[in-house]
This record gives sequence, structure tokens and C-alpha cells, in this order.
Amino acid sequence: MAVILAGGKGERFWPLSTPKRPKPFLRLFGGKSLLQATFDRLIPLFGERGVYVVAPPHLEALVQEHLPALPKKNLLLEPEPKDTAFAVAFALKQLPEGLVAFFPADNHIGDEEAFRMDLQRLFTAAQSIPGLFTLGVVPTYPATGYGYLERGEEVVPKVYRVRRFLEKPQEEVAQKLYKSGVHYWNAGIFLGTREVWCEEFHRHAPWVLEGQGEKVSLDYALMEKSERIYMTPASFPWDDLGDWTALERHLQSQGGNVVLARHVGLDTKGTIIYGAGEEIVVTIGLEDVVIVREDQVTLIARKNQVARLKEVLRQLGEAE
Ligand code: GDD
Ligand code: MG
Repeated sequence: MAVILAGGKGERFWPLSTPKRPKPFLRLFGGKSLLQATFDRLIPLFGERGVYVVAPPHLEALVQEHLPALPKKNLLLEPEPKDTAFAVAFALKQLPEGLVAFFPADNHIGDEEAFRMDLQRLFTAAQSIPGLFTLGVVPTYPATGYGYLERGEEVVPKVYRVRRFLEKPQEEVAQKLYKSGVHYWNAGIFLGTREVWCEEFHRHAPWVLEGQGEKVSLDYALMEKSERIYMTPASFPWDDLGDWTALERHLQSQGGNVVLARHVGLDTKGTIIYGAGEEIVVTIGLEDVVIVREDQVTLIARKNQVARLKEVLRQLGEAE
């Protein structure tokens, strides 16, 4: 069984993403939403009845709209959004025995055939080794927004024990891990038998199984604590699409700019321009800026500071 996690705060692609329409529901590349692309990628592996979605209740209608092929009983609605540890535990309670694989709905996967082969390797390993299995991506910069897996000894071909799981390290730590040669980014995909999942929750975070306590992600509640984590290096191109600047990596740029709006520009370079409406965006003598027009909001930010959107949203929340 595959379970897609569809939720989130909708901060990083604000104002396009909002708590009512978080990242999985964005059609960043025009065609399919990230959720639809995730679903379509998993059908060949799990079949239409083997793919589930866990989402908070306020996203029910949106999930149905994006995934008309999802059987009604495969949409698992959590009582309230309390981050991924609670979403995973909630899903486990509804599912029968067997292998359960959890997938984020906000990633870009570059080579679907390679993705499926890597997963097959983990399925096979999970049948003989009791553990939780993950996919590791070779880091290309000292990211502080990902988890890191420290590769240990090989247990079956291309499957390694994880010595340590470190979620979202501080900048200085990330600098060391990125250069170590044995650390990988956690791609956010987790699989194991239902039995092992439940054992690990009982051991490390029993309150989560009972739906008690503050919101917490699976990474902090379980993955950092479990001693039975394994990984295989991902052989496909992977991107978490962390914020607006990710568009540059995936969309052809026109004259050095990524343009998804009606745009007229003079001397404009390295700029990302997104507009959902008919308005025209005019830029003159501009470099390395993000401009987003959506509904009642206009965002203009220097590209290297878009991560500060979180600060703005906190302020706006306080102001309301
Ligand atoms: N159902 C449900 N409920 N889904 C949720 C919730 C929730 O409360 N919160 C988040 N999700 C979904 C998101 O929509 C996304 O598909 C997935 O769970 C992961 O959550 P993110 O909030 O995007 O996590 P992250 O990107 O900060 O970190 C995770 O992913 C990284 C890779 O993309 C961690 O696992 C990191 O270790 C990892 O490197
Ligand atoms: Mg994410």
C-alpha cells in the first residue's frame, strides 16, 4: 500500500499556496498538480486500489477534485492537521497488515522508471529485514531544510543501515554533513511493514498513536530515534521544490527570466514572474527578483531572501 501525505502550511509558495491550498495542490508546471503527479507515479506500482491519501478534513473537497480516480474509502481524513507523525499514525490505524509506504506530495521526481526500481529494491529488503526504509539523495549544497541520513554498512546490495538520522540541522552542521561523503538528504519517503511501524511508534512515540500531544513531524518523533532505519541511494533526479526559486531549475527561462505571466520587461534578468490573472507585469532594469501576483496580493522579493516569507506570514497573522 502507498499512502500520500497531503497537507502542510502553504507558506513557501505564498500567496499562491495558502493553508487552504498547500503546495501539493499547486500546478507549478502548468499541467498536473504535484498531488496528481505523485498519484499517477504510484499507480503502476500499487494499482488504483492500493494508493491512499491522508489529508486534514478541510482539504477533502480539494483532494477529490484533484484525484477523481481515488476510491472514496482510500481518502483518510485526519481529525486535524498535526504534522506528519500524526498523519502517518492515523493512516496506520486504518490500514490492514502488509507493507506501507508513505510519500510526500510536494516533490519533483526526474526519472520515474529509476524511482520505481529503487522502490522495488526497498520492498524486497523490507520483506526480509524488520526496519523502516528510506531513500537518500546526494546533497548538492549544505541545505538546512532537509533531513540527513548517515550511511552505515551495506546489509543487502545497495541497501545500507542508517547510523544516524538528523532532521534539519543548523547551518554549521549542514556544512560538515554536506561534505562528509556519507550523508544523504532524506527524500521524505518512508516504508516498512505495518507491524514494524507500530512497534517503532510504541517504542518511541506512543502518545502519537493515541492522537495525544503537540504537533510533530515523523522525522523528529520517530526517524531520529529509531535504531532500525535503512536507506538506498536514489538513482533519480530529486527536488523538494522548496520555494519560488525552484521554478528556475525546472522551467525553461526566457531571456534569463522565468515568466509565468503577461510580462513586458526591459533589461530584466534572473527574475521569476508569476501571475494568475490577466494583468500585465512590467519590469525595467531589474535583476534577481521574484514577483508574484495572485488575487489581492502582490509579492516582490529579492530572490535570495524568499525564505523570509515565513517572517512576513507571521506578521500578517499577528496583524489580523
Ligand atoms: N496529511 C497531512 N497532515 N500531511 C501533511 C501534514 C499534515 O498535518 N503536514 C505536512 N504534510 C505533508 C506535506 O504536504 C508534504 O507532502 C509531506 O507531508 C512532507 O511535509 P513537509 O512539511 O513538506 O516536510 P518538509 O519538506 O519540511 O520535510 C520533510 O521532507 C524533506 C524532503 O522533502 C522531512 O521528511 C525532511 O527530512 C525531508 O528532507
Ligand atoms: Mg516538503
